[in-house]
Amino acid sequence: MPELHLTEILLSQDQIRKRVSEMAAEIRRDFPDDVHLIAVLKGAFVFLSDLLRHMPGYVSLDFLAASSYAKGTTSSGEVRLLKDLDSSLEGRNVVIVEDIVDTGLTLHYLQDILRARSPKSLRTACLLSKPSRRKIDVSVEYIGFTIEDRFVVGYGLDFDEQYRNLPHIAVLEA
Ligand code: IMP
Ligand code: MG
Repeated sequence: MPELHLTEILLSQDQIRKRVSEMAAEIRRDFPDDVHLIAVLKGAFVFLSDLLRHMPGYVSLDFLAASSYAKGTTSSGEVRLLKDLDSSLEGRNVVIVEDIVDTGLTLHYLQDILRARSPKSLRTACLLSKPSRRKIDVSVEYIGFTIEDRFVVGYGLDFDEQYRNLPHIAVLEA
């Protein structure tokens, strides 16, 4: 496998900050009274923490962990639930917070299992979307940025657990 390098900053800190605050306002507008955010670990934790701080009023949180990538950049097609939620979703306005929707397999699976827990509503917010990679049709109501088919890291996103700490989003390629 060729060595991978950070080749380009795709989204700057400023671009991300601006868009995340817009997304927070949009979600708040749709759910002014209460919203329950569910972040998909680990990639979404940075996005969640910024989204949350742009959202005044009542917000509650929970976390789950799923894995579709064993290692590296190719999907195994298999999704595993590694950590389940702490609290019930019954009657709540739930928004899944995810870093990126790529093939859509992970979100499709998560939406199915969370819908079965009888939330009042279930929506999804993704910071990034790569529509050209989609293998399954999945609905994502809030999308931060639509990007081309390039592997990106930073702002929570990793390659082999590295680069999550970059404050911007960068392209990783050979
Ligand atoms: P999907 O099931 O193919 O939609 O994959 C979603 C998951 O794959 C995301 O939550 C990420 O963890 C990972 N992923 C997909 N594309 C990228 C990328 O460009 N950089 C880092 N992680 C990615
Ligand atoms: Mg992820």
